[in-house]
Amino acid sequence: MHKDIERVLFRDDEIQARILELGAAIAKDYEGKNPVMIAVLKGSFVFMADLVRAMDLPCQIEFLGVSSYGSKSETTGAVRITRDLEGDIEDRHVIVVEDILDSGLTLNYLLGYLQSRQPKSMEICALLDKPERRRVEVSPRYTGFTIPDAFVVGYGLDFAERYRNLPYIGVLKPEVYQ
Ligand code: IMP
Repeated sequence: MHKDIERVLFRDDEIQARILELGAAIAKDYEGKNPVMIAVLKGSFVFMADLVRAMDLPCQIEFLGVSSYGSKSETTGAVRITRDLEGDIEDRHVIVVEDILDSGLTLNYLLGYLQSRQPKSMEICALLDKPERRRVEVSPRYTGFTIPDAFVVGYGLDFAERYRNLPYIGVLKPEVYQ
């Protein structure tokens, strides 16, 4: 285990097992619909790669670059689009793939932004959800794991652009970010 990690929340094999279930659920719900999967960068790049490979379903892959955190662990509510979609989502079924849902401010903003492009439907698939921290109402249709209020890293999630390549999800030692 990395020295900055207090404890491992989900091992690689536990994450993969849950993603297989999520992929099967999405493939069943979206059969014949060719959804557009939009990964919110950077945190969801690892999750997206595993999720779409767990879906036995034709789909389109898109990336949306968003920056809200800087190097701090608290959201400011300000969301900046750093990379826009390439493809058109008008009249398409969209699934927004997010690493973690915390206050909900980022997704709330993004849903408004994407809704203005008139998709046929739009749902959220979040790997992690911290419902205790919610400040605006956002309800993911698919959730990997519900977690307590702790700052987690690994499996794509960072603190100050570090730890994204850890294969597990772990709680960061508070002294690292305080
Ligand atoms: P929200 O706008 O507060 O819901 O925050 C969503 C974004 O904040 C996520 O996409 C992450 O980039 C980041 N975030 C929130 N909680 C954590 C965490 O525990 N670890 C790493 N990043 C986090």
